[in-house]
Amino acid sequence: MYSIFQGRSFLAEKDFSQAELQYLIDFAQHLKEMKQQHLPHQYLAGKNIALLFEKTSTRTRAAFTVATTDLGAHPEFLGANDIQLGTKESVEDTGKVLGRMFDGIEYRGSSQSVVTQLAESAGVPVWNGLTDAWHPTQMIADFLTIQENFGNLAGLTIAYCGDGRNNVANSLLVTSAILGVNIRIVTPTTLYPDDQIVALGHNYANQSGGTVQITDQVAEGVLGADVIYTDVWVSMGEEAQFEARIKQLLPYQVNQQLIEQTKNEQVIFMHCLPAFHDTQTSYGKEAAATYGIQEMEVTDEVFRSAYARQFDQAENRLHAIKAIMAATAGNLFIPKV
Ligand code: CP
Repeated sequence: MYSIFQGRSFLAEKDFSQAELQYLIDFAQHLKEMKQQHLPHQYLAGKNIALLFEKTSTRTRAAFTVATTDLGAHPEFLGANDIQLGTKESVEDTGKVLGRMFDGIEYRGSSQSVVTQLAESAGVPVWNGLTDAWHPTQMIADFLTIQENFGNLAGLTIAYCGDGRNNVANSLLVTSAILGVNIRIVTPTTLYPDDQIVALGHNYANQSGGTVQITDQVAEGVLGADVIYTDVWVSMGEEAQFEARIKQLLPYQVNQQLIEQTKNEQVIFMHCLPAFHDTQTSYGKEAAATYGIQEMEVTDEVFRSAYARQFDQAENRLHAIKAIMAATAGNLFIPKV
């Protein structure tokens, strides 16, 4: 009998049920404890994993590399300039070739249709390491982090403050709704999420008991929130919109005043990273010189505060990605969930 995850790709959260997502979160927790106790978990022993990155990455690349190695498999990094994907060779042909050599494929790039085509042609599990539409491996790590802090998920409230149309906002909206978590997207009306994604969220929330709220009112949006989440104001490839985004999103910056507006002493702060909270980077220095702004989506004060959980999230990327890879491509049996 097949495991329910065996051979499946992980392209978007909406492809998985509440029970399946919860299983992956709990399995990630289990694998985290196994690693901490130095217990072997080589569920991918002898396999080969392709890591396709058309965009830069720190956490996702590191997590897939270490997860692959911990699971006993070999990771092969194939960057944008290393292979002919999309330039001299179609996505379909590339998927067919890689699927004959590798046992699983990670893809990070702009287009959701590319990762979908790879999954259709490769015949092995394909994992979405981020596209413009979704960031699903991030969600397993994030909800593991939330569960570690609160002991449960359903009934909690997340307020996402920032660009309401980016991949992380999309994924948080839909994943929260599937898991019965109340999600509030707090963003200017000009950056409200796509209507189809909001409708999808409402459909899931009606089944799970969660709620979906989109608002441009910060005080109303963050009141009572258990989690304040933000992301960069300008995503990869949108750099030309920097000045406009700063003007639009400055009122939504996560600072101490916004944290206090939650009126929840147990509130935690989350960020998928990288974050622009100071001028220690060339990006930060350029923003300071050009726009006179020292910190963007989160202040340095909040980033370094007791509320902050962003480095727990970063570590949990490893355990989450390992759970997804092991469940879908590993030599292990997972009964019906
Ligand atoms: N959060 C995230 O995806 O980080 P990287 O861009 O470093 O992979």
